Amino acid sequence: MPDPTQLPLRELIRRGADFLERKGIPDAATVCELLAARLCQCKRIELHRSLDAPLSEPRVDAMRRGIQRVAGGEPVQYVLGQWDFRHLTLKCDRRALIPRPETEGLVELVLKSPQLNGNPKPLVVDVGTGTGCVILSIAQEHPGGVYVGLDISPDALALAGENAKLTGLEDKVMFAESDGCGEFEPASVDILVSNPPYIPSATVDALDPWIRDHEPRLALDGGADGLNFYRSFLMDAIMVLKSGGAVFFEIGDDQSQALRDMMEEHGLEEVRILKDLAGRDRYATGVMAG
Ligand SMILES: C[S@@+](CC[C@H](N)C(=O)[O-])C[C@H]1O[C@@H](n2cnc3c(N)ncnc32)[C@H](O)[C@@H]1O
Repeated sequence: MPDPTQLPLRELIRRGADFLERKGIPDAATVCELLAARLCQCKRIELHRSLDAPLSEPRVDAMRRGIQRVAGGEPVQYVLGQWDFRHLTLKCDRRALIPRPETEGLVELVLKSPQLNGNPKPLVVDVGTGTGCVILSIAQEHPGGVYVGLDISPDALALAGENAKLTGLEDKVMFAESDGCGEFEPASVDILVSNPPYIPSATVDALDPWIRDHEPRLALDGGADGLNFYRSFLMDAIMVLKSGGAVFFEIGDDQSQALRDMMEEHGLEEVRILKDLAGRDRYATGVMAG
């Protein structure tokens, strides 16, 4: 990495991007712009205002450290320490999965559902909450419900709690440690939503190293066929869902038939498979029989 002291930000970004590209890091220019925007405490789109100003030495050092971490294989989201999801900027670190854009679509399905909109105070439970991105977004965009985020990982729950405070939603969302959702009263929940671990174990081993070596395995690994979570979760789900309540899952793009079969076998009705913005099967929904 060349010594960038006294360089204007534009040049620092250019040299950083060249360096990362040579290291084989994808989207190197975007990564450097994101790091620079974090340093300048602005949005990436506002960076142009600072491009020609020389950076102070501590900022140059911070930028250089960030670039080195990304070059070493760390995801840029963890280096930034924050990531945007829908209307929220959330703290993001190794304790939980980095929120993905397709999961924003899962939130959209819940927000449009009759189970949410036709009920003055719905109980909505997000199982496998991670950073809290799903349930915090629902609570922010549809105030008035009772919102609970569950996770088996104490680390993820600590991060979700920090995100609730950061977004001013700590009085609106409760987080608790749980394996699945079986501890609710029978027939008490209006909506279950989950983006669980759904990648087959062997595929996790073959993932890009910046995912496999940095994001929690507990958030990725769905067992031999990727379906372990759905199997055990559905047994609890049909106990705790109210009649007419709904379940919303994110799924792997090759899991739609398996999910449809499993959900119908558990007696869920109106089972639908929906696509993400890239046109891939990504969500499975179903309604608890009356
Ligand atoms: C794919 S991540 C999703 C995190 C977050 N909801 C998101 O969309 O970014 C799955 C999460 O499920 C949690 N998890 C895995 N098995 C679980 C279980 N049996 N019960 C509850 N949570 C579980 C993991 O700790 C992880 O935080």
